Amino acid sequence: MLIIFGASGDLTARKLIPAIYNLYKGGHLPENYVVLGASRSEWTDDDFRDSVVRESAYLADQLKGVDQQFMEKFTDKLFYHELGDDQDNDYSPLKARITALNEAHKTGGNYIFYLSVPPAAYNQIAKNLHNQGLHDESVGWRRLIVEKPFGYSLESATSLNKALHRCFKEPQIYRIDHYLGKETVQNLLVTRFANSIFEPLWNRNYIHHVEITNAEKVGVEKRGGYYDKSGALRDMFQNHLMQVVSLIVMEPPIGDNPEEIRNEKVKALKSLRIMKDEQTLFNNTIKGQYLAAEIDGEKVKGYREEQDVDPESTTETYAALKFYVDNWRWADVPFYVRTAKRMPNKVTEAVIHFKSPHHQIFKDSGIHNKDNKLIIRIQPDEGILIKFGVKVPGQGFKVERANLDFYYSSLAETHVMTAYERLLLDAMQGDATLYARADEVEAAWAFVDPILDYWKNGINVKTYGYSAGVWGPQNADDLFEGSYVWRNPGEQLAGDPGFCVLS
Ligand code: BG6
Repeated sequence: MLIIFGASGDLTARKLIPAIYNLYKGGHLPENYVVLGASRSEWTDDDFRDSVVRESAYLADQLKGVDQQFMEKFTDKLFYHELGDDQDNDYSPLKARITALNEAHKTGGNYIFYLSVPPAAYNQIAKNLHNQGLHDESVGWRRLIVEKPFGYSLESATSLNKALHRCFKEPQIYRIDHYLGKETVQNLLVTRFANSIFEPLWNRNYIHHVEITNAEKVGVEKRGGYYDKSGALRDMFQNHLMQVVSLIVMEPPIGDNPEEIRNEKVKALKSLRIMKDEQTLFNNTIKGQYLAAEIDGEKVKGYREEQDVDPESTTETYAALKFYVDNWRWADVPFYVRTAKRMPNKVTEAVIHFKSPHHQIFKDSGIHNKDNKLIIRIQPDEGILIKFGVKVPGQGFKVERANLDFYYSSLAETHVMTAYERLLLDAMQGDATLYARADEVEAAWAFVDPILDYWKNGINVKTYGYSAGVWGPQNADDLFEGSYVWRNPGEQLAGDPGFCVLS
């Protein structure tokens, strides 16, 4: 039984129910499952079914032409329970409902509690469940899925971990990070550890620097209230991008057992050099905010004009960092990572820049600045691209860069599960590989905390403006050493990077 707290909220209709529907359609769910939505809205089972299935805009396309009986069979498995208004409320009516459904549908006492509610409510819900003995695994298993944000700082994340641990054991807690549910993020592990051609080069001897870009075309949309208190570093970097970083940095695990993988990821995160003094923070971080502009003939608001945003806000919508990893493998290799809203494209990719050949035979042949690159495209146009040198036909040895590429779309298996489908299925099967562990989340916060603190309280901190629709503030490239700059990727993996897109 999947019990969703915050069942009348946006995430339930937008992501969770469509994911469950796809799992149902794909035959991944057992015959005897049920979903119980819980929230404070005064809804009946039927209101819930109408809202998240029958009248849901998020399922409309998928349900087109679907056999009525097939759909009703799915809908019949959805139930709703109205929680009282008060957060401290007694969960005995909820427990009675769960018990009745468990008996009627033979769910074996196996429950997942999904907290799709504001973080301030996590602790209380966990306590309420505990008070009713709903954490107890003597009959069936009990799991708690916690949405992001997981804490607001190292201190709050640590105290949230402690609070949850009073009610549930660590192996029962599944901290969701939807980036880990993306096939292309998981493929980082496979690229590195299922091939013998990359791993021998995956170190300071061959890699010059690593670059990760997460760009979004959209602004803060309707989430100004949340975002203004969060900012890009908390919203994207502390969780999603730190996960990507840990998969690039980690040592090979002993096997694919979740704990072995998670141990290596924690070790990787702990080896990031924490920036402590103001000068280091000043030199290695860039904070920006988007300004009003016209994109494709349409006026776009600046961040400060967005709904629920403080008109004098200095919250960052662009964050770029340069940092180092203090271990044997990565000593002196700079990592450049940026995340931003209102960029020219929606794109996430990691680029491994290899060093120039140790001895350059063809140095007069235009090879300079065209070193080998491995581009791992997380989204869109998912795939992998290797850039390498080839001889230009003709006299002499002129070298040009060529592409060797792989696209996920070329695979015969075309159904790629969405992140939420994959993660929900894993949680049902008790596989926590793709969920963040308590120490992992804390290690990520330990790295991010001093930056946030500096950006809030530092003396020489600047928030640079950039016009909506360009690749960040003018000085965005200042982080790079030498003649390197950000690779501003286009929508197509193999497309040439550029500064802006004219559509
Ligand atoms: C969410 C952030 O976690 O990830 C959003 O809160 C962001 O601000 C989103 O837009 C990006 O996810 P994706 O999968 O579209 O890259």
